[in-house]
Amino acid sequence: MEFNIALLKGDGIGPEIVDSAVAVLEKIGTKFGHSFRFTEYKIGGDAIDATGVPLPQETVDGCLASDSVLLGAVGGPKWDTLPANIRPEKGLLGIRAAMGLYTNLRPAKIYPALADKSPLRADMVKNGFDLLIVRELTGGIYFGDRGRREGKYGPEAYDTEAYSVMEIERIARVAMSAAQKRSGKVISVDKANVLETSRLWREVVHRVAEEYEGVTVEDMLVDNTAQQLVRNPSQFDVLVTTNMFGDILSDEASQITGSIGMLPSASLGDGTRGMYEPIHGSAPKYAGTGRCNPIATILSGAMMLRYSFDLAAEADCIEAAVERALNEGCRTNDIAGPEHRVLTCTEMTQAILDRI
Ligand code: IPM
Ligand code: MG
Repeated sequence: MEFNIALLKGDGIGPEIVDSAVAVLEKIGTKFGHSFRFTEYKIGGDAIDATGVPLPQETVDGCLASDSVLLGAVGGPKWDTLPANIRPEKGLLGIRAAMGLYTNLRPAKIYPALADKSPLRADMVKNGFDLLIVRELTGGIYFGDRGRREGKYGPEAYDTEAYSVMEIERIARVAMSAAQKRSGKVISVDKANVLETSRLWREVVHRVAEEYEGVTVEDMLVDNTAQQLVRNPSQFDVLVTTNMFGDILSDEASQITGSIGMLPSASLGDGTRGMYEPIHGSAPKYAGTGRCNPIATILSGAMMLRYSFDLAAEADCIEAAVERALNEGCRTNDIAGPEHRVLTCTEMTQAILDRI
């Protein structure tokens, strides 16, 4: 089959890690007889430098015309002082909205070979964990009304959280269907002891859950969830939550796997076209040093094959190659122990290619 993939390399280590994933996809194409056509578009700081805006129309058009999008990362100190509407992050939020990608799937699992890299004590991760955070991606406080005004104590700033029934229903459905293919256990994360949006969230999530046979939903407050993730991560399977809570909890979940450099993500809407990106950032201090870990982006490529192109065997093949490389002691800087030779990003990519 033939697929058109838009590449948004972005900033910092973005170009290096996207090149790694492209090399892996090309190898998969050769092995399984598919052709992947890649077209690059600008986003983030890279786009600001070239065009003055973080999300040029050409990028939006190119992504909407593609079969799926692979993104590196955006942002860096160079653009930190720009006004809010032309910051690199605005490009990322903008492309998610323009493509209607309201679902963000962020799996976090611990690889047995890396268990000793987890900051959690060995007895806490001895049962392993394999969880999926389903984060709502185009609503809530990241997209709500915001601004500056005169308040009771003088000048103030505000951001608003709003969720419609429709937005909660559609993300709840994604979580319930995902759970049906896993253990059937969903934890819905909110702050219903304080927030009205959370109270609506709870109501709607439970109503939707009734339509799904074999699925049970339990509610957990977000502060408690943050605790439970570091106390007993094995208790979780599917978590569903709002944009901001999902942003925060997914970083926490990634850290307990041992390295944020390992975690892929998929952003999806109603169709099959999605955007795939590592959950880590642009790590500007590692840009150009070869010290970054390409695995999160390579695994994002695998998620693209699985979720957008329905190529499960091909995705399995990438995931197995990554696991084999780890089992055989291949390590980038972020996951190496004293006994390992540290591989560069290119060497790790080659190690994975060799195992495909
Ligand atoms: C993420 C990032 C983004 C987000 C930022 C860069 C806008 O933190 O993908 O988790 O908050 O969604
Ligand atoms: Mg984040």
